[in-house]
Amino acid sequence: MIVDADLRVPGDKSLTHRMLILAGMAEGTSRIGGALTSHDARSTARVLRQLGATVSPLVAGRDITIRGQARFRRAAQPLHCGNSGTSARLLLGALSAHPFASTVTGDRSLRRRPMRRVTDPLGQMGARFSFKGSDGLPVTVRGGPLEGIRYTLPVSSAQLKSALLLAGVAGEVAVEVREPGGRSRDHTERLLRAFGYRVEDEGDWIRFAPTGRIEPVSQEVPGDPSSAAFLVGAALLAESGALRLRGVGINPTRTGFLRVLARMGGSVGVENHHEVGGEPVADLVVQPAELSATDVAAEEIPGLIDEIPLLSVLASRAEGTTVFREVGELRVKESDRLALLASNLRAVGAQAEAHGNTLTVVGGRSIPVGRVVTAGDHRIAMAFAVLGTLPGARVLVDDPACAGVSFPGFSESLRALAAGRRGRK
Ligand code: S3P
Repeated sequence: MIVDADLRVPGDKSLTHRMLILAGMAEGTSRIGGALTSHDARSTARVLRQLGATVSPLVAGRDITIRGQARFRRAAQPLHCGNSGTSARLLLGALSAHPFASTVTGDRSLRRRPMRRVTDPLGQMGARFSFKGSDGLPVTVRGGPLEGIRYTLPVSSAQLKSALLLAGVAGEVAVEVREPGGRSRDHTERLLRAFGYRVEDEGDWIRFAPTGRIEPVSQEVPGDPSSAAFLVGAALLAESGALRLRGVGINPTRTGFLRVLARMGGSVGVENHHEVGGEPVADLVVQPAELSATDVAAEEIPGLIDEIPLLSVLASRAEGTTVFREVGELRVKESDRLALLASNLRAVGAQAEAHGNTLTVVGGRSIPVGRVVTAGDHRIAMAFAVLGTLPGARVLVDDPACAGVSFPGFSESLRALAAGRRGRK
């Protein structure tokens, strides 16, 4: 493929969820520009409407307006979060401070994901939970007055950290959290500061102090680096040319993949630095490269957790053996990503193994041919679609449409890359 494109990616998923929820908890009308309008973002918007917020339709290219009522209202029906773990976990945090019962549920994939890691600390703060099974949704939360908490998370997870911080916001209590491994994405901390709250870093601890109420906001969402990663990967695998991706978020807690790619010989240019809504943003400039293997250490994982599918398909084209250490969290993502990455890489003719919490991928030059099982996991679908851009490749992804969970228009963007079309600037 000869790549020659100048594109944008849709708005950041993590930021869109957080802004929608905080705007839904504010009293008055907020505006969000450049937000993601994917299935996951729609799940958060739909649940917020059930909880009494007025949210305008999510249409790509249009601002979203949200009128919040300061407190959520009891919903008549279960709150269905679709495929979105971020919606479910963050909302469980906020609902913990609301004095009524809400049932949170989701699709089959979401119902198998662990929730006790969120409800245990929220229970310590004073909320009550009842599960139908042993872990996982559906869960009924009975919220009420909360107490502050000082808590070490069992895993580095931005969803857990954010659930506790949002409980602190809604319950007006202090929250101190610490992550056991590397730092996960810090969007909630940054946003809360932008809303005028005190959030401090003290050594390992993040300290939130309740100060007043949430005011409505007017904010822009930068492009999602996790979506950008797939197009970056496709451009690195191309034979020649260049790709520019404009307006991508480059928060250091999200761009671990760029540091790993640089080690693999795939340096990505970062130009036109600026700031959008308290987040660092830049253009990414990518040229094709010969890649070599690397070792991805445990402490790097939280900063690139969503990019492992893409990095592992790139590793299957790199010279040598790449090892991803301590990636057990991949087993409880939208699918068992650890098992699916290894089995799908083998299905297209590459060598890969998942052993315990380690993923090992051996690089090679064979032409990828085979059928990929996504289990409805958007990032598996997009990673293998990238591999399918190689000359002669025949990679059949069983459910390409699931990319719409986080990246509406993904296949069009991938085609625009290959055809060298100029996208909107
Ligand atoms: C997210 C946090 C990560 C990530 C997910 C989005 C967020 O999950 O995988 O796609 O927006 O907070 P964990 O917190 O479970 O690691």
